[in-house]
Amino acid sequence: MSGDQRSAYRSLWRLRSYARPYRALFAVMTVAALASELAPAAIPLIAQRVVDDAIATGDRGALLPLAGLALALGVLEALAVMVRRWVMTHSALGVEADVRQDLYGHLQRLPIAFHDRWQTGQLLSRATDDLGTVRQFIGFGLVFLVVNTTVCVVVGVLLAFSYWPLALFVLAATVPLVVAVRRFELRYSRVARRAQDLTGELTTNVEEAAGGIRTITSFGRQHLVLHRYLAEARRLRDAQLVKIRVLAYFWALLEVVPQLVLTVVTLGGAIAVANGALSLGGLVAFVSLLLLLQWPVASLGWLLASAQEAETAAERIYEVLDTEAAVTDRPDVRPLAAGTGRLRLEGVGFRYPGTDRDVLHGIDLDIAPGETVALVGATGSGKTTLTALIPRLYDVTAGRVTLDGVDVRDVALAELRRAVATAFEEPTLFSVSARENLTLGRPDATDAEVAEALRVAQAEFVHDLPWGLDTRLGEQGLTLSGGQRQRLALARAVLGRPRVLVLDDPLSALDIHTEALVERALRDILRDTTALVVAHRASTVLLADRVALLAGGTLVAVGTHSELLAGVPAYRDLLAQESDLEEVAP
Ligand SMILES: Nc1ncnc2c1ncn2[C@@H]1O[C@H](COP(=O)(O)OP(=O)(O)OP(=O)(O)O)[C@@H](O)[C@H]1O
Ligand SMILES: [Mg+2]
Repeated sequence: MSGDQRSAYRSLWRLRSYARPYRALFAVMTVAALASELAPAAIPLIAQRVVDDAIATGDRGALLPLAGLALALGVLEALAVMVRRWVMTHSALGVEADVRQDLYGHLQRLPIAFHDRWQTGQLLSRATDDLGTVRQFIGFGLVFLVVNTTVCVVVGVLLAFSYWPLALFVLAATVPLVVAVRRFELRYSRVARRAQDLTGELTTNVEEAAGGIRTITSFGRQHLVLHRYLAEARRLRDAQLVKIRVLAYFWALLEVVPQLVLTVVTLGGAIAVANGALSLGGLVAFVSLLLLLQWPVASLGWLLASAQEAETAAERIYEVLDTEAAVTDRPDVRPLAAGTGRLRLEGVGFRYPGTDRDVLHGIDLDIAPGETVALVGATGSGKTTLTALIPRLYDVTAGRVTLDGVDVRDVALAELRRAVATAFEEPTLFSVSARENLTLGRPDATDAEVAEALRVAQAEFVHDLPWGLDTRLGEQGLTLSGGQRQRLALARAVLGRPRVLVLDDPLSALDIHTEALVERALRDILRDTTALVVAHRASTVLLADRVALLAGGTLVAVGTHSELLAGVPAYRDLLAQESDLEEVAP
């Protein structure tokens, strides 16, 4: 086994923990499959008795019980098939559902950094295609791999007892098959993995094309996207064709070898009968038994293929499941101290995983309870990054962030994220009702609280939607305007009065008039909530008690708006592009 193959095999083997709850079902399934496969094995033996006893001696009376036995075996086989199918559906679907649940739960826990790195399409294809492949294998392939092997062994033993010289020949004929199986497994696992990876890439492509349809259409880029898609699709098709070719060679061999064996056995058997070494009934039985091997051997092709595919699928699933959730609860979490929200950043530094440059370094900032600090800086200076450190979307790589004296890394994530509410520049809404979008972080919010949050965020337009708060928003809230989305996201953040508010440029998409309304309402909230507000406009800056200026990855100045305006030229330059600077400057 090559290294790749071994790790793929190990991944599949690890999935057995998911099968454990269904152990009894798998046992029933295997027994039923064995019964349905082995029942026909008795038929040749009955045939032998019919030929050698009933027909040869002309004893008609012996025929009836033999026919009855054959009929009973037929019924048993039918029943066994029914039981197997029924049980199979239950157990395989159960395993699939359990793995999917774990996978989904894990995706939710994984750090944002993981999602920065992984293509959505790869995740989608792993959560759908690969899981389906695994389900098919454990519900069908695995059982038949076990059953067919058993059938081969049982039939082999029966053959040996029927006439050992011919049985020996049959055994010798399996040698080229074993060699072929080894070679096939090696090649197939490689091409299967490639095809599965390409499926993930194609899914990414479709996902981006659908998600970016507005941009693509407005730039008239449809043909370009189509070309990219077709090129990927062609690569996938080529990979699939290679897969089929490998399979076809193997398949042909699995058909040819048994036929050759059958020819030789018939010839050799005829000679043996002529010499009196074997009875005619014995030859009939031998050949009939041999025919029973045909299906298990022929099916070996796709059973092994399905095993290989399941192995690589399991490997791809475990690649996700094995990624550590970097931001997790420490074993010794502390409750947040009772407090009113003193937020301190002490020597905070941050570097994105996989990069070699600190985006932030040496940041010290002390925000008093109830105080609002505006974070100002050129685009790309690290404002969004800094805000992400407070609810621990990322963990600091130097220094620490404390909330009421407790390092945020010592607090349970669930508690921290209840205390710290956020609204981001590009708010994400989900295709659920407006109410569910609002109460995302606080499912227990009362109607009065929701109404209050909507008022503060000037998001009362929600009441005018066709079904009010129960209106289901389109995918990613795309049925709303940018400003409406921002206001909903803001309402979501202020809902339930969090201890700390982190707002990343929450008003950028609002017209001046709405902005003024939101600002007036925000002022009420900000008066007694600790807040860090990223601001681009002077008008937003004026909501804050103090301003922190971010440049070169660190805070170069902290003070009131007028102090900075008077004393820091860089600050003046930054806000000078604002046409309303003169009007709002105090
Ligand atoms: N996920 C990421 N992985 C690696 N680098 C990143 C990541 N996100 C942002 N960066 C880099 O970090 C730096 C700061 O980005 P950030 O988004 O914090 O800037 P910003 O101040 O919010 O800018 P803007 O005003 O345009 O929103 C940029 O140089 C950016 O390229
Ligand atoms: Mg930003």
